[in-house]
Amino acid sequence: MERRSNWYDHPEYYEAIFGTDTVREMDFLDAVSGRYGTGGKLLLEPACGAGRLVEEAVRRGYRVVGYDISEKMLAHAKGRLTPAQRRRVKLYPSRMETFYRPELEGRVDLAFNLVSTFRYLDSEQAALEHLEGTRRLLSPEGLYVLGFHLTDYGRERPEHERWVAQVGQDKVVCNTHEGVPDRRLRRSAMRNRLRITGPEKDLLIETHWYFRTYDLTQARRLFRRAGFQPVALYDFDYRVDEPRKGAGDRLDTIFVLKRINKNPSPSGRGTG
Ligand SMILES: C[S@@+](CC[C@H](N)C(=O)[O-])C[C@H]1O[C@@H](n2cnc3c(N)ncnc32)[C@H](O)[C@@H]1O
Repeated sequence: MERRSNWYDHPEYYEAIFGTDTVREMDFLDAVSGRYGTGGKLLLEPACGAGRLVEEAVRRGYRVVGYDISEKMLAHAKGRLTPAQRRRVKLYPSRMETFYRPELEGRVDLAFNLVSTFRYLDSEQAALEHLEGTRRLLSPEGLYVLGFHLTDYGRERPEHERWVAQVGQDKVVCNTHEGVPDRRLRRSAMRNRLRITGPEKDLLIETHWYFRTYDLTQARRLFRRAGFQPVALYDFDYRVDEPRKGAGDRLDTIFVLKRINKNPSPSGRGTG
């Protein structure tokens, strides 16, 4: 058996597992943008990975800006687009903590970051820098749609999820473990194993990292500090007509964030 240590060096296997919800996620983003935002055509995907959502968005007529730290994921994202689509997409190598493009300032209609990627930001400062940087790029009525799992600090057992997919003749089995959360260090140890087997293949890709942890109070406090207010919360079921009422008890959470207007109108009625 061959062994590797970073699943983002293997975009085709990553996408086989995470690509299955792409159309549903983009349907949801379309609907959310129309309902709470501008419904406009300029989208931004921080940490866009191998470009499954970038491709789906540009197919629907959006212009899309994406960025990621992984050159291999970005190369896969570029490679999947037609020449005509490439003219409406800009992809950059960049980190969530520092991404900035002056030509985007105040112009983005909808930014989105799903599947817990936000939790890679490993400190309050890094998360704040990312949120403030993204906020700066949004148009006044623009939205940042942020989906990640909140943490139950009372959990005493590791969690486990398993998915299976097919790539050509190869079978891909994906197992993800999230360790018991460390409330003081605000993180959980993560482990992902992708086992790929086929006629000419026997490969194990094992990846280890930490995810930052948030309960609802910690998330809300951070958003407020960054100048955002949640205008709606959803589950990962992506049903736009079923926003969560109250805090809810599910941990998979999509925050629809809007900029807090720090300059109230002359009548004194701001949105924040
Ligand atoms: C779970 S994947 C999500 C990819 C894509 N957004 C999607 O939904 O398929 C996480 C991505 O985040 C990228 N990433 C991790 N930390 C990052 C950081 N600090 N800045 C930019 N990208 C980062 C990884 O390279 C990877 O492509």
